[in-house]
Amino acid sequence: MFEPGLAQLLMRLADSDLSNVALVRGDAVTLLRERVRPGSLDGIRIFFPDPWPKRRHRKRRLVQPAFIALAASRLAPGAGLHLATDWTDYATQMRAVCEAESMLVNAAGGEPGGWLPRPGWRPVTKFEQRARIEGREIHDLLFHRRIDLPPGDHLV
Ligand SMILES: C[S@@+](CC[C@H](N)C(=O)[O-])C[C@H]1O[C@@H](n2cnc3c(N)ncnc32)[C@H](O)[C@@H]1O
Repeated sequence: MFEPGLAQLLMRLADSDLSNVALVRGDAVTLLRERVRPGSLDGIRIFFPDPWPKRRHRKRRLVQPAFIALAASRLAPGAGLHLATDWTDYATQMRAVCEAESMLVNAAGGEPGGWLPRPGWRPVTKFEQRARIEGREIHDLLFHRRIDLPPGDHLV
């Protein structure tokens, strides 16, 4: 958790007319596991999670089978899990992990490679900007929770 990032977001919120935003300072995994009811979220977005590019550090990556099972279990049927990264091998890992999760289906499965075209609405953060400057391709993924699973199934 990066406190200057939270502070910047608070300042942007103060300049906006949004009134329905809650920020939580802490571990997103604990939050999902302990504070979010299964089947209750309309969507989860994970943009540019820490890439841990060194091979010996890859086990620290957020997007792993157990985490994706937890995230999928918290989505309402039909709700989306949207991921983006500028590290191609992490993007490939994300796609493989999500495709292996039986609660999820790739909403962009008909697109080349199963990648979602970059949504124009996403603000370009400094991480995405740096990736562009350094020539790294951005990959987006969108998975939906299957609607034929009742909420509460596959509790994690
Ligand atoms: C590379 S930055 C990307 C930030 C932002 N999503 C963006 O696109 O600009 C990754 C962020 O994830 C935060 N982070 C990593 N693991 C986390 C976790 N388990 N819970 C909450 N935040 C986490 C880090 O502190 C860091 O601020």
